[in-house]
Amino acid sequence: MTLEEKAGQMTQVNVTNLQGSSEWDAGPLNKEWLVKAFKDYHVGSVLSGGGTTPVSNEPKYWAEMTNEIQKNAIENSRLNIPIIYGVDAVHGHNNVIGATIFPHNLGLAASRNTDLVNKLAASTAKSVRSTGIHWNFAPVADVGRDLRWGRFYETFGEDPYLVTEMVTASIIGQQGEDISSNEKVASTAKHFLGYSQPLNGQDRSSGEIPLRTLKEVFYPPFEEAIANGAKTVMVNSGSINGVPVHVSRYLLTDVLRGEMGFEGVIVTDWEDIIRLHSQYNITDNYKDSIVRSINAGVDMSMLPVGIEDYTKNLIDAVNEELIPMERIDDAVSKILALKFELGLFENPYTNAEKAEAFTLDQDRELARQASVESLTLLENDGVLPLSKEVKTILVTGPSADNIANQMGGWTIGWQGLTEEGVPPAVTFLEGIQNAAPPNTNVLFETDTAKAVQAAKQADVTIVVFGEGPYAEFDGDTTNAAVPINQVELIKKLAETETSVVGVLVAGRPLIVTDLVGDMDAFIMAYLPGTEGGNALADVLFGKENPSGKLAFSWPNEIGQLPMFYNHYPKSTANEKAYLPLYEFGYGLSYSKFNYSNFEADKEVTLDSVIKVSVDVTNRGDLAGSETVELYVDQQLSSVLTPVRKLAAFSKVHLEPNETKTVELEIPVSQLAIVPGDVLGEGDKIVEKGIYTLSIKKLATPVTIKDKIE
Ligand code: IFM
Repeated sequence: MTLEEKAGQMTQVNVTNLQGSSEWDAGPLNKEWLVKAFKDYHVGSVLSGGGTTPVSNEPKYWAEMTNEIQKNAIENSRLNIPIIYGVDAVHGHNNVIGATIFPHNLGLAASRNTDLVNKLAASTAKSVRSTGIHWNFAPVADVGRDLRWGRFYETFGEDPYLVTEMVTASIIGQQGEDISSNEKVASTAKHFLGYSQPLNGQDRSSGEIPLRTLKEVFYPPFEEAIANGAKTVMVNSGSINGVPVHVSRYLLTDVLRGEMGFEGVIVTDWEDIIRLHSQYNITDNYKDSIVRSINAGVDMSMLPVGIEDYTKNLIDAVNEELIPMERIDDAVSKILALKFELGLFENPYTNAEKAEAFTLDQDRELARQASVESLTLLENDGVLPLSKEVKTILVTGPSADNIANQMGGWTIGWQGLTEEGVPPAVTFLEGIQNAAPPNTNVLFETDTAKAVQAAKQADVTIVVFGEGPYAEFDGDTTNAAVPINQVELIKKLAETETSVVGVLVAGRPLIVTDLVGDMDAFIMAYLPGTEGGNALADVLFGKENPSGKLAFSWPNEIGQLPMFYNHYPKSTANEKAYLPLYEFGYGLSYSKFNYSNFEADKEVTLDSVIKVSVDVTNRGDLAGSETVELYVDQQLSSVLTPVRKLAAFSKVHLEPNETKTVELEIPVSQLAIVPGDVLGEGDKIVEKGIYTLSIKKLATPVTIKDKIE
């Protein structure tokens, strides 16, 4: 390959660039630009950022469009190299009209159901691949530690172990055994590293994260993603400890390649190379930005602004020996290897008819199960499940019948729904109307004064409130407040005699401390997608027993941030280390689960596995599922360690009065920490000694030793 051809493989353009315009949605693909991109610039990859297509969002159109682009790429490439096409299908094939939209990750994390996440990922992959797309920029492997950040809902929450389990399930579901299958895609563990803990809570801003925390909290999801074959990794657009990650040779090469053994493709995030000089001022020209990022380890540039300029500078930099040819060959061989693995050389096109069929039939049942299992019941004075005697239900609130709010960002449009179309959806109102018993009257009112009047006639009020849709950039908040008109609505409804069930539709915990007392029941619905309405109705009417557990700590006040349950011990008796409104792992059921017979190994060696078992009994009248969560606390450690950390979990389904023995295992290696001084330079090790294992209020010690006598 020529240097020009190699440079082209390392670039990824947005589909709108193939319209011959820098404007989005400026018209159909432009023949002249298709030739220019693939013949002149040898472009190796195309993406649809924010789900953009030039003309239509119909699945058949997507497939025909990607086929047309692929044909142009192959025919205009001297070596007939196919492109790899990427998209953000982060909760179903959310770019395509007609596709089922699954809950966003924060809700899925509440389900604690890794099998479910695996199935949703597999379903998404099948639909994505059918539209001629081979690469999905998912899952987010960032540990969500700041709810102010507008991408909090894209994370699987605040716990590294939970995030790791969910990310792994998603990667295996998307990639399967063989990504050349026309039902599989290459996944992306993103955004390496520390993207989710920006100092000021704002997207793409500076993170100040000690090396010890990076290693203990932020590495594990990426380590496991890589161990489970993630084909690509996307880089954090922000900086960590004063260094934009796109130029961090330490993180991209020493850690990601060296320590973690990643052999796949490292892709930048959107336009991030030019930002090194246009924004960060760590170089003063494009060439140096390219040199620093590629030498740090970047293989592919997503959206090299000004492709002509980018390519010329890259080629000049290699000719001037600022970038070694071996680095270029390394990057290009990784990109080509991925294309081979995906089977693109033999099988570059998709069948447009199948795209439509797959996408339109996509797993509604699975979506409903996912929405049901994510619903997290936070308060219930007994009003739920609704009594069969309920004759009139008032449904109100701005999110009760609002598809955009229920879907959240990354749905057809980047920041949420656009006029380009609406995916299939059952709103909360529709779900309640569909499920209400035949003689039950369902009223709907959004005007506050009228809603309050209607509430007086009703037996129960369901108020669905929360946030509108958003994605990166637009979604950052400084207060996570419930909008004042919604507060007023809930307060006035609470003044009526009628019970109020509050349902929060949001991508983060909003500050509801002053509202909790106004609600007789309170459910966190997250951003549940297509089946949100049916799922809520299933839980309200008792067809399903809620089982969701929070994947984050819910603060009382925004000033409590940063807040996570796995914090260090208090430094003084007065320190208010952790006083959330609801803690990580909290979530009620209509049943009561009793725990007994907690047994665990008493002594284990460093290279072994701790085995634990506990009996769980459903003491309620309804069948239900319970997630058993096992926490570990290292009693004595050479440096501070979290007061407790989740080490294993398992979800069991129990009929009334049924008891099951749940067995859990913790590899001792999972308890490794970073010893040493404040720099956190040391390797992770497991310290010998006594650890406390706990499940609910049951606790038992285990001793980790060199050997057992
Ligand atoms: O994959 C995304 C990333 O998460 C944020 N910036 C844009 C990319 C492509 O759309």
